[in-house]
Amino acid sequence: MTIRSSRMRGLYRKKVEERRAIVADATGLSIQEIRATLKSGGLTTETADKFVENVLGTYALPFGVALNVRVNGTNYVVPMVVEEPSVIAAASNAAKMVRAGGGFTADVDRPVMTCQVQLYGVKDGEAGASSILREKDALLEMANRVVPKLVERGGGAIDLDVRCLEAGMLVTHLYVDCRDAMGANLVNKIAETVGDRIAVLGGGKRGLRILSNLCDRRCVRVRVRVPERVLSTETLAGSFVIEGIENASRFAEADPYRAATHNKGIMNGIDAVCVATGNDWRAVEAGAHAFAARSGRYQPLATWRGVPGPEGTQVLEGSLELPLALGSVGGTLRVHPAAQLALRLLGTTSAGELAMVAASVGLASNLAALRALATHGIQRGHMALHARTVAIAAGANADEVDHVALLIVEARDITIEGAVRALRAVRDGETR
Ligand code: MEV
Repeated sequence: MTIRSSRMRGLYRKKVEERRAIVADATGLSIQEIRATLKSGGLTTETADKFVENVLGTYALPFGVALNVRVNGTNYVVPMVVEEPSVIAAASNAAKMVRAGGGFTADVDRPVMTCQVQLYGVKDGEAGASSILREKDALLEMANRVVPKLVERGGGAIDLDVRCLEAGMLVTHLYVDCRDAMGANLVNKIAETVGDRIAVLGGGKRGLRILSNLCDRRCVRVRVRVPERVLSTETLAGSFVIEGIENASRFAEADPYRAATHNKGIMNGIDAVCVATGNDWRAVEAGAHAFAARSGRYQPLATWRGVPGPEGTQVLEGSLELPLALGSVGGTLRVHPAAQLALRLLGTTSAGELAMVAASVGLASNLAALRALATHGIQRGHMALHARTVAIAAGANADEVDHVALLIVEARDITIEGAVRALRAVRDGETR
């Protein structure tokens, strides 16, 4: 499927039904399908009852799209599911700035997951490790016999190594190419298959057999170069904004307290894409934060620097790296119609491509947050969007929301009572 465009001027000002039509047109999907799937979140109570236990119903979240995203020269309309106001707008806005500098450049590792087989009570660690390593080929063959379909698709167990963690404790890592699957079930199956044989070879008791969410052989990297001119605000020059963003990056590099919040801003974008596409965002979060702490000190996943650009201007360079185990087949995607729709909106069937897009949206979210923090602060944008939510809660209909929101922002009274008063004034025609 070809995505014609990911730029849709003024989409946010349209009504929901108009937006569906515009997005359908841009992506080649049918508006009927978008409407039918997203009207109530895509999941019936009957299907939900097959997902988890003790189901009482379903819980809906907003499904939106980020615009302007161009990764490695391809345009994407990116589905995002998130409850926090301004995340989608901020990512779209930052993606537009990135686009002015050529878009996101991304690359992704082979989709290799790590599974762990722990042994304890090992008498001679060195001898145990050697004997496991001697049987490497046989162990990989044994692993691949239980995942024949994965092997058919070009994946499977490809390597193995052994680590000694402490006296008496060995852990064997098996590395499994999961192709387009996230791979949790595949690698857990492999770990459970080879565990007993590894215990015999290693001369210890078999402990845990499970994947590692620190899937650092499955990383994605994104880079951007943003020209100074697109970073300026109404009152601040682009060079000042670049200095502020570099300063924010250095703050996160120097301080884990700030790095945690910096990374939260990145995960705002990545998690929203994960949820929309039916991916396990807890696994992604666990991997991201473990990766951020891999040096022994918690670090930002993305960093920013101002560098000399053309004709005496500055360019803002940003880069992000994190492990990202996403699937474009299997799991939730098999059964959740909204997740299937999300993937089709995106126009990809490849897990690697999905990871590059999700990471790009993460870097865009980070850029938007740092630009706001380095200039007017985060509250202004948040408040404007929060005002819309308050206006809706006060009873404003689709035609009244923007007007009521504007009035309560101007009156600095973003409360339900304030919105009720503003709504009354709008309906009485007192504000015209
Ligand atoms: C809020 O959801 C995310 C931010 O706190 C991120 C940041 O501080 O960089 C704005």
